[in-house]
Amino acid sequence: MARNGKVAVVGAGFYGSTTALRLAEYDIFEEVVITDIIEGKPEGIALDMNQSRPIEGFETKVTGQTTGLAGEGYEVLSGSDIVVITAGLPRKPGMSRMDLIETNAKIVRQVSENVAKHAPNAVVIVVSNPLDEMTALTQIATEFPKNRVLGQAGMLDTARFSYFVAEKLGVPVGAVKTLTLGSHGDTMVPVPSKCTVEVGGTPKPLTELLAPADVDALVDRTRNGGAEVVALLKTGSAYYAPSAAAAQMARAVAEDSGAVMPVCAWVDGEYGIEGVYLGVLAELGRGGVRKVVETALTDSELASLKEAAAAVRAKQADVQNL
Ligand code: 2OP
Repeated sequence: MARNGKVAVVGAGFYGSTTALRLAEYDIFEEVVITDIIEGKPEGIALDMNQSRPIEGFETKVTGQTTGLAGEGYEVLSGSDIVVITAGLPRKPGMSRMDLIETNAKIVRQVSENVAKHAPNAVVIVVSNPLDEMTALTQIATEFPKNRVLGQAGMLDTARFSYFVAEKLGVPVGAVKTLTLGSHGDTMVPVPSKCTVEVGGTPKPLTELLAPADVDALVDRTRNGGAEVVALLKTGSAYYAPSAAAAQMARAVAEDSGAVMPVCAWVDGEYGIEGVYLGVLAELGRGGVRKVVETALTDSELASLKEAAAAVRAKQADVQNL
């Protein structure tokens, strides 16, 4: 089996390490790199993952590297085709993602500058929160073309929505297709008009299977999907579903697959929305976002998307100075 390329994950917390493991277990990369500022942690995680290779049967080599605040160790990113930025603090119970903006902006800016220096041709996938703002900041700090910087959120929010629908209706998750757009936060825009459930081999609109109040309750639970996990865990935030989402995005880029996924991408004219990183459907390939894919929305869904864009644009303007 041919293995190609190098993908790096910055941040060896639960989100970063599960993402690195998923990427390594795909067994499609030559090398997966994981870094962290905690001395020895990424090296230890890499050693442990490499020792799992004979059991799980993957040959992708995992490399761990401690990095320093003055940029020490970031040479390890050199030659990376893709860098996933997970660095930053997770939420504590009761916090909103936006409460992290000042702290995480400093971390993400420093990481982004090192990515630009050592992996100038990489596609960057951002997962740090608040997601839409950290994605915008990464593009500003790397000065990479906007299509080469994208954020992970819609894949996760969509997966949460699909799971809640499947659980409610007692059907396999594979029978459910949902969509969320907008922000990874209060202005998340679930799109019920695009949601279907396969019944007897035929996709049926979700709105025919559930009463509006039930759909609204699932939409609400999706919007608060991350907070629900944070409240249960008490320390840290979700990482199994988030890492699955980030890893699949990286895979689509690595394989130049053209997969259309809900991601945080630069929107400039689509849906009549200008100049903002926002959750939309996008076609992914080796260069990052090949194009934003517009999908027909109802008037109220489009209005919500425009509201989300306005809210996120205002916050993204703030991050320039953080
Ligand atoms: C979440 O929603 C970590 O933002 C991520 O769980």
